[in-house]
Formats: sequence, structure tokens, C-alpha cells
Amino acid sequence: MSTSDKFWDSKAEGYAKSPISDEENYQKKLNETQAAFSPGMRVLEFGCGTGTTAIYHAPHVLHIDAIDISQNMIEIGRKKARESNIDNIAFSRGTLTEFNADTASLDAVLGLNVIHLIPNRQSVLTEVARILKPGGVFISSTGCLGSSYFRFIKLFVPLGKLLGLMPDVFVLTESELANEITNAGFEIESQWHHGMKDISVFIIARKI
Ligand SMILES: C[S@@+](CC[C@H](N)C(=O)[O-])C[C@H]1O[C@@H](n2cnc3c(N)ncnc32)[C@H](O)[C@@H]1O
Repeated sequence: MSTSDKFWDSKAEGYAKSPISDEENYQKKLNETQAAFSPGMRVLEFGCGTGTTAIYHAPHVLHIDAIDISQNMIEIGRKKARESNIDNIAFSRGTLTEFNADTASLDAVLGLNVIHLIPNRQSVLTEVARILKPGGVFISSTGCLGSSYFRFIKLFVPLGKLLGLMPDVFVLTESELANEITNAGFEIESQWHHGMKDISVFIIARKI
């Protein structure tokens, strides 16, 4: 288990209890995402946390695989789905690479508030492109800290990780993220930002 897995395991219960921080923009993201869905779709969400978003989306698609590196997050997600009578989400622990979906097998992939936490970002974007069908959608929401004073967080991450106070956090700008998604084989259809210093970047991209 890596230090990030341990960090997120320790946060799972608190994360499940914490309210959505920006309800208006959360609803806007749910609506834009569901506008890209249709009832027969197979969806994968990586970094699903405690499954809140997957549970909202489940009635709008055929099936969701929801994965996360934290076993505690996954267990809470399973319980919440059961309590909500949702039976088309399969929760499992792991990274996108470990999940190893078949090539061109999925209609949509979601990576929400997670891409800036992943060390091998470019290979993850390449993997998303591999597993999506042509015309499939990749929907992401990412903390882009690179143009704000939050970029200095990178100075504190090594010590924060050592002390178990922080997970991996990587600094990138909105334009770097958009270029990386495009270079992985996508066309961006919607891109907007919100939040403090506009650091939260929402992108809907279609596999070419
Ligand atoms: C900030 S939370 C976001 C959770 C959820 N997507 C949301 O928007 O509420 C980040 C989540 O990503 C997970 N995570 C971090 N690195 C990951 C990785 N490499 N692969 C899969 N999940 C990861 C963490 O365990 C945590 O549950």
C-alpha cells in the first residue's frame, strides 16, 4: 500500500460525511454529464471516492464500474449504493491500469477531482483513450493549481506525505491539462472553470 492509499483510507469516513462544497457547480456538472449519457452506456469512474457521483448517474446508464485506490472509500460506496437501491454499480479497489478494461469497451470514463493526484498522468490519459470506444466521452474535473499561489503546495508535498498529512498532489495549469487531453486523442467539447482562483477545471472530451 502506498502513502496515498493510506492517506485516502484515513479520510474516507470524513469524506463521506462532508457536504458538497459548491452545490451549484456540482449540479451543473451532473447535468452536463447526464446530457452526454444514454441508457445503454457502460461507464467507468476512476477515483470514485465514496461513490456519491456514481450513485447519481447510475439510473441514467446501463452499468458503472467505480474504482478507487482506497478500500475504505470503496466499502462506503458499496454501502451507500445498497442503501439507495442502486444495483448497477460494481465497486472495486484499484487504479485504472490495474482495472485493465478491454480496448474500446466503454462509452464513458469519469475522472473527478483525481487527475491532479495521479503521478503518471500522461499514461492514465493514454489508458482512458485506449479503453473508450471511438466517439466515447471522457469527463473530468481537475484541480489545476499551476497558475495560482496554490502552486507552491509542491514544496510541501514531500514532507506532508512523509508525515501522512498529504497525498500525492501534482501541479499543472488548465492549458497544460487541456493540451495533454487533446494529445491523448480527444477533442474537447466543453471546458469551464470555477472555484477559488478558478482552479477547478471541468472538461468534456470526445475520443476521436
Ligand atoms: C478528492 S477525492 C475525489 C473523490 C470523488 N471523485 C469526488 O469527486 O468526490 C480523490 C479520490 O481519488 C482516489 N485516488 C487517488 N489517487 C488515485 C489513483 N491513482 N487511482 C484511483 N483513485 C485514486 C482517492 O482515494 C480519493 O478517493
